[in-house]
Amino acid sequence: MTKVAIIGAGPCGLSMLRAFEHLENKGEKIPEVVCFEKQEDWGGLWNYSWRTGSDQYGDPVPNSMYRYLWSNGPKECLEFADYSFDEHFGKPIPSFPPREVLYDYILGRVSKGKLKDKVKFNTRVVSTVYKNDKFEVSYQDKVNDKILKDTFDYVVVSTGHFSVPFIPEYKGMDKFPGRIMHSHDFRDAEEFRGKDVIVLGSSYSAEDVALQCNKYGAKSVTIGYRHNPMGFKWPNGMKEVHYLDRLEGKKAIFKDGTEQDADVIILCTGYLHHFPFIDESLRLKTSNRLYPPKLYKGVVWQDNHKLLYLGMQDQFHTFNMFDCQAWFARDVIMGKIKMPSDSDIDSDINKWVAMEEKLENPDQMIDFQTEYTKELHEMSDYPKIDFELIRKHFKEWEHHKVEDILTYRNKSFSSPVTGSVAPIHHTPWETAMDDSLKTFLNK
Ligand SMILES: Cc1cc2nc3c(=O)[nH]c(=O)nc-3n(C[C@H](O)[C@H](O)[C@H](O)COP(=O)(O)OP(=O)(O)OC[C@H]3O[C@@H](n4cnc5c(N)ncnc54)[C@H](O)[C@@H]3O)c2cc1C
Ligand SMILES: NC(=O)c1ccc[n+]([C@@H]2O[C@H](COP(=O)([O-])OP(=O)(O)OC[C@H]3O[C@@H](n4cnc5c(N)ncnc54)[C@H](OP(=O)(O)O)[C@@H]3O)[C@@H](O)[C@H]2O)c1
Repeated sequence: MTKVAIIGAGPCGLSMLRAFEHLENKGEKIPEVVCFEKQEDWGGLWNYSWRTGSDQYGDPVPNSMYRYLWSNGPKECLEFADYSFDEHFGKPIPSFPPREVLYDYILGRVSKGKLKDKVKFNTRVVSTVYKNDKFEVSYQDKVNDKILKDTFDYVVVSTGHFSVPFIPEYKGMDKFPGRIMHSHDFRDAEEFRGKDVIVLGSSYSAEDVALQCNKYGAKSVTIGYRHNPMGFKWPNGMKEVHYLDRLEGKKAIFKDGTEQDADVIILCTGYLHHFPFIDESLRLKTSNRLYPPKLYKGVVWQDNHKLLYLGMQDQFHTFNMFDCQAWFARDVIMGKIKMPSDSDIDSDINKWVAMEEKLENPDQMIDFQTEYTKELHEMSDYPKIDFELIRKHFKEWEHHKVEDILTYRNKSFSSPVTGSVAPIHHTPWETAMDDSLKTFLNK
């Protein structure tokens, strides 16, 4: 019997399990599937952990999510085609839920059947090598500290790529009298109440961590961008300046001449695609981009079609794109989708990479990833979902952010699955301090 290893039980790994479950429910015989998850439960980053550094077994904590994190895009844009928000919550809910609500939704879809039996928890894959037409996977049973081995015909890598922080160094850091940390270890903005905070970076973490610190009472928040400013209309107490030049004692000196006393520096400088558990010849090496090279249709490893990667792209689209990838991967494994010739694969990858390299603004990036996801969608029987509506929602959302970075999460969108329109949340995001599921759903 064909054997498939799935590494990671975050949203991508769960999409893979679900894709096989669909086929099995139709009466088709599916391969033997084993999913390895190094945490004690599933859900990936959405399974919040208070831990930072390493866990009780000495393993680095993969989690990068923090308290009071709310969805940064409309939930309608990530909705599962086979499991709507209306079905899970029994009623329409607002468009920007906090983490616990999305976690509940993700788990709702996979908890009904017997998928959990296929996951080995507290089990970390330590090496993956290809030998004699099979993958030899070594894994650590973390609780008993035992290394075990198994062989598989296919490996699906769904380990995420926002877990290993990229940590640059700036002059004067070694003498800075305050705290220097990466957003990977950020857990609770309350810690910075009354403090002067410097945030470095200009992407989603920089934006959200800076806003969180402001919302929960930081004295001042100064964002230092490297290449391009985010350029939002920041609320009182926040400013965006150009690039940190150096620290002198507790003073941060920026390239544009700004000087700001600081109690804490939060590096929102992104993450590394870091996969030491895969043999180097099989290892994806890329920066965070919309079309990492060497992956056919963004999924199949060009040099070995039995190795598949899910969710390795920079992400506008998330859960339903992961689903389209998983359904596609499943059909490749099942032999329902045939691989084209090596030269066709090469030109297909090059075509997408070349298109990606020409993208100039968020609207074009949204179009690019929507086209990619639509193409994948058409290649499998993933249920109907309106990606044109999702494209429109993403563009509207971008414009809402430019209009007002504090209020974009108060807007409402319609579902690409059921068509239902989200109600406006009972409390505007700026004043909603409690992010629990109970409060959000008014239970
Ligand atoms: C701070 C933050 C906020 C985000 N907010 C949003 C948001 O609001 N909306 C949105 O759509 N997306 C958001 N994302 C994007 C996020 O990438 C996706 O939502 C999603 O979690 C990706 O799923 P994944 O399965 O690829 O990775 P992950 O969620 O990272 O899951 C990977 C899993 O693999 C496991 N694993 C890793 N290595 C091994 C190993 N060697 N052996 C066994 N198991 C292993 C990990 O323990 C983990 O459970 C956010 C990301 C971050 C960092
Ligand atoms: N739900 C939420 O509210 C929320 C919150 C946080 C994160 N997220 C998600 O988390 C994921 C990761 O986002 P991310 O922002 O952590 O990573 P990212 O999107 O990869 O961005 C990395 C940032 O680091 C900057 N950078 C890199 N090296 C630097 C240096 N030496 N000095 C200064 N800046 C440097 C980059 O700047 P340049 O552009 O100049 O290269 C870029 O702005 C995304 O999917 C995002 O959606 C969501």
